[in-house]
Amino acid sequence: MARDKTRFVCQACGAVHPKWQGRCEACGEWNTLAEEAPAPRGPGPAAKAGGGRRVEFVGLKGSSAPPPRIPTGIAELDRVLGGGLVAASAVLVGGDPGIGKSTILLQAAARVASAGRRVLYISGEEAVEQVRLRAARLGLTDSPMALAAATALRDIVASLEQEADAALVVIDSIQTVWLDALDSAPGTVAQVRACAAELIRLAKARGFAIVLVGHVTKEGTLAGPRVLEHMVDATLYFEGDRGHQFRILRAVKNRFGATDEIGVFEMTGTGLMEVANPSALFLAERRGNVSGSAVFAGIEGTRPVLVEIQALLSPSSGGTPRRQVVGWDSGRLSMLLAVLESRCGLTLGQNDVYLNIAGGLRITEPAADLAVAAALVSAATDRPTDAGAVYFGEVGLSGEVRQVSQAEARLREAAKLGFAAATLPRRVARGAKPAAPPAGMALHETGHLADLVAVFAEKSVKARPPGP
Ligand code: TYD
Ligand code: MG
Repeated sequence: MARDKTRFVCQACGAVHPKWQGRCEACGEWNTLAEEAPAPRGPGPAAKAGGGRRVEFVGLKGSSAPPPRIPTGIAELDRVLGGGLVAASAVLVGGDPGIGKSTILLQAAARVASAGRRVLYISGEEAVEQVRLRAARLGLTDSPMALAAATALRDIVASLEQEADAALVVIDSIQTVWLDALDSAPGTVAQVRACAAELIRLAKARGFAIVLVGHVTKEGTLAGPRVLEHMVDATLYFEGDRGHQFRILRAVKNRFGATDEIGVFEMTGTGLMEVANPSALFLAERRGNVSGSAVFAGIEGTRPVLVEIQALLSPSSGGTPRRQVVGWDSGRLSMLLAVLESRCGLTLGQNDVYLNIAGGLRITEPAADLAVAAALVSAATDRPTDAGAVYFGEVGLSGEVRQVSQAEARLREAAKLGFAAATLPRRVARGAKPAAPPAGMALHETGHLADLVAVFAEKSVKARPPGP
């Protein structure tokens, strides 16, 4: 029998390698491999030791009270959390440096403290004076929250263990916290994992909610993302463009609520303000009657959101034409361009294509296909889309326009904002009765992308000045 060899396990993704190497081939991370002893054969150590207690199994029915919630008082944040923070739970808030994580958490912490709960804010990134300055700017100085600057896990844990009635603890950020028992530097996977595990264990044992701030690395992932994401109960990402004032808080994991829910904020001189009507905000700067622009009626989580999609074509200066995308998937754009060329006879040829989601929102819904196609066709034919119309629908590889979910909610939001027409997938009777559109709304049902292209071609014929 071959002897069991030691193996090397990537601490970021868990891939197993037979020998040590500097870079994990599976996830591309550097210096994440650590030696692990081989797993013993035969009965495991737990089975050998014996003496375990029998675990009680129960049925699915039974009375379990919903977990107690701590509302933050910031409606957009509470909605993303699924109704507020949950006692004895851990939340990870990730995002680029400077996006506003410390700002929103300071605002939330101050509100929770003002509501009479014990809140501890531990800053490892900024000195107490800096946090105080920020609080003054945000008008929060009267809040009774407790503030400290600390990075040593030993000190933080010792202090938290003496807290009898803490309801919320914020650690800003987990990458600055370090445990002296480990050799590795603060911010490394090993440190982040060990410190987070200890803090989360404490939160569960003592019943407070803990919020860990985590910076995103350049590649768009949190340092040690996989290890942290499975340890916490909820992961929220704070995204947006620092050049824009909009910030979007997105739940990517939530054990106590729905994911894909978003909260929209506006960064102002006095902190982050909630945006109750994001559609109006995203469309505020739209100029009607320009080609290459189409309004997409999207759904973010449970909420319909209208956004403007902008496309620009310009003759390529030779070589491979450029495809530049902001806020959408570039692979999806390539697919749509290919469908437009091969299924709809639209020649985009040697044009550079630029696509932008106005306002800094990132769209992942396939339902945006039809709106993107409308913006592209509009740009290609130099004919504006109908300024009073919204678009939604998924496009398949043969050019067919497919149904998407929640058509009624999309139409209602469009009607609310004064849109009078919608181009949408053809409704196929699936047993369900098609719902009534909002009063006065004209629906253009489209079965194939070529129909949409034909509408623009017609427009250009109509718009052509009568010849001699
Ligand atoms: P911050 O919360 O420090 O970001 P993070 O913790 O994610 O690194 O946000 C810092 C940015 O926000 C900084 O560029 C200044 C800006 N800001 C405002 O515009 N208004 C404000 O009231 C505050 C506090 C910050
Ligand atoms: Mg910060």
